[in-house]
Amino acid sequence: MNRPVLEGLRLNTPAHVHHARLVEWVAEIAALTEAAEVCWCDGSEAEYRRLCAQLVAAGTLIPLNPALRPGSFLARSDPGDVARVEDRTFICSQRQEDAGPTNHWMAPAQMRERLQTGEQALFRGSMRGRTMYVVPFSMGPLGSPIAHIGVELTDSPYVALSMRTMTRMGRGALEVLGADGDFVPCVHTVGAPLQPGQRDVAWPCNPTKYIVHYPESREIWSYGSGYGGNALLGKKCFALRIASTMGREQGWLAEHMLILGLTSPEGRKYHVAAAFPSACGKTNFSMLVPPAGFEGWKVTTIGDDIAWIKPRVDGRLVAINPEAGYFGVAPGTNAHTNPNCLASLQRDTVFTNVALTDDGDVWWEGLTDTPPAHLIDWQGRDWTPALAQATGAKAAHPNSRFTVAATHNPVLDADWDNPAGVPLDAFVFGGRRSTTVPLATEARNWVEGVYMAATMGSETTAAMAGGNGSVRRDPFAMLPFVGYNMADYFQHWLDLGERLAAAGARLPKIFCVNWFRKGADGRFVWPGYGENMRVLEWMIGRIEGRAGGVDHVFGVSPRYEDLRWDGLAFTREQFDSVIGIDRAAWQQELALHDALFDTLAHHLPPALPAAKARFAQRLAAG
Ligand code: GTP
Ligand code: SPV
Ligand code: MN
Repeated sequence: MNRPVLEGLRLNTPAHVHHARLVEWVAEIAALTEAAEVCWCDGSEAEYRRLCAQLVAAGTLIPLNPALRPGSFLARSDPGDVARVEDRTFICSQRQEDAGPTNHWMAPAQMRERLQTGEQALFRGSMRGRTMYVVPFSMGPLGSPIAHIGVELTDSPYVALSMRTMTRMGRGALEVLGADGDFVPCVHTVGAPLQPGQRDVAWPCNPTKYIVHYPESREIWSYGSGYGGNALLGKKCFALRIASTMGREQGWLAEHMLILGLTSPEGRKYHVAAAFPSACGKTNFSMLVPPAGFEGWKVTTIGDDIAWIKPRVDGRLVAINPEAGYFGVAPGTNAHTNPNCLASLQRDTVFTNVALTDDGDVWWEGLTDTPPAHLIDWQGRDWTPALAQATGAKAAHPNSRFTVAATHNPVLDADWDNPAGVPLDAFVFGGRRSTTVPLATEARNWVEGVYMAATMGSETTAAMAGGNGSVRRDPFAMLPFVGYNMADYFQHWLDLGERLAAAGARLPKIFCVNWFRKGADGRFVWPGYGENMRVLEWMIGRIEGRAGGVDHVFGVSPRYEDLRWDGLAFTREQFDSVIGIDRAAWQQELALHDALFDTLAHHLPPALPAAKARFAQRLAAG
């Protein structure tokens, strides 16, 4: 490329970068945003440490006590920038029907005008006074045939730092790109340009936020937030929204699923992919510790949030985790609920919006039974148990999180980085429902499994701005993450199953679970966490054809005697209260399925209302 030397210098393009299109795009975005400087990330340890030191100097990161939490930091975000913003998330396909009724849509030209081309376009000058980091990353093992490359341009060093933990970031990704490889361009700004001499704040962001996807040109533009899935664009924006559209075109799946390995006492290995909505237990389930009485069973983690799933040549579905780290929910994580996670967080972890202890460590609700006598809360204010009692003030934000490399996980699966992926034996779908939905159900077949996943409801959580516990339909736990029309997405799942079955492939079984039914006292009846192993064992028993169950309206559920109760006092009565099907509640539930299908009527696969009719008939027949 015939680029003037001077411009090359200003862009600080390293000598090893030979990708003309990439360099040109970096120049274009630097010009649009008027970034003061360009810094190409190489992903090295030295660079990571440099960014940490810089963020400490800026007040964004607070170093934790190195004796208690070596190499670790606390970040406090702006109180208005604490979770994904679903109402500011857009799928800008050419035609609105391709985004579908569950996504916010704007015509691409109109959105581009607002963000890039208009006189008042938000990205114009948005990086003034800031460094623009060029962050090349691979989603999936470097060079894997299932992996894809992205490049994020961001003016947030916190984001650049987090991307190193969450993805395979840096020089390796550039090498895979070579001189003309394909990449998904991701532009991110916190939307807080600095005037000359203006002092920066610890967490720059903008009250106006846009999380924008152009599925046809596979571009991501994110404005105004520095937090989580709004800003770490490899995660939800690329690995779910853009990747789901790629998967639809190319015959694979991008899903909001954990992937776990399960080894039986006999040494047989199974792989399970499970979709639960945000903050509903994926990280927990992926690191499960089998309880007493289940010696010999072992759970290992392949991924905790996202799965890319493709048919192998023999038609078997295999999955990879496109990520390399965990951005997990802190509250509720403790030595009982998730000891492996806690062990992962001992060092080299960035915590965001948790509380700070007087000795320079972290704390969050649920970490210990008794809170420390004094804390600094997630907004930097004094906090005491008495204050909490009086005002309900939380020390840690309910969506406070940790960012840590997967390699810290003591039960990381040996195949977590295998470019070929792992073969799936089961899909599990689960919402957070205090009533109605039974503990475990096996779908009779693929179509009914797709129906159950498609109609899943869940109580919203703090992982989304505005999440308040109200039940909403969250098909496949993908409502906020599907990059195209949800009805077409259902069709894609049905088509894939049909195609693989016709080719004689072995399809994973589909199960639905609900760990969250509550009793009259308002408490969870099912003990959950490690005890979920009992349900997992039953699923494996079903796959091996030896576990019993009872056939009912929606599929097959375990009877009391079909689960093993060693080491747990759980009565038949308690079991009945988490497995039972309340006919009246299910009549109402089916009405909600109808409402969902009405919303998605355009392109809705007829197989789904047909399945609904069968369920309704069985329910009426009792
Ligand atoms: P995202 O990262 O937001 O996609 O969420 P996730 O699905 O990975 O959520 P995570 O595993 O971090 O779950 C967070 C919340 O679910 C915490 O409040 C946990 O205590 C709770 N949780 C997880 N597993 C169980 C369970 O088996 N039973 C109950 N009652 N709560 C659970
Ligand atoms: C989720 O909300 O499902 C998450 C956290 O995994 S975030 O990356 O912020 O979207
Ligand atoms: Mn998630």
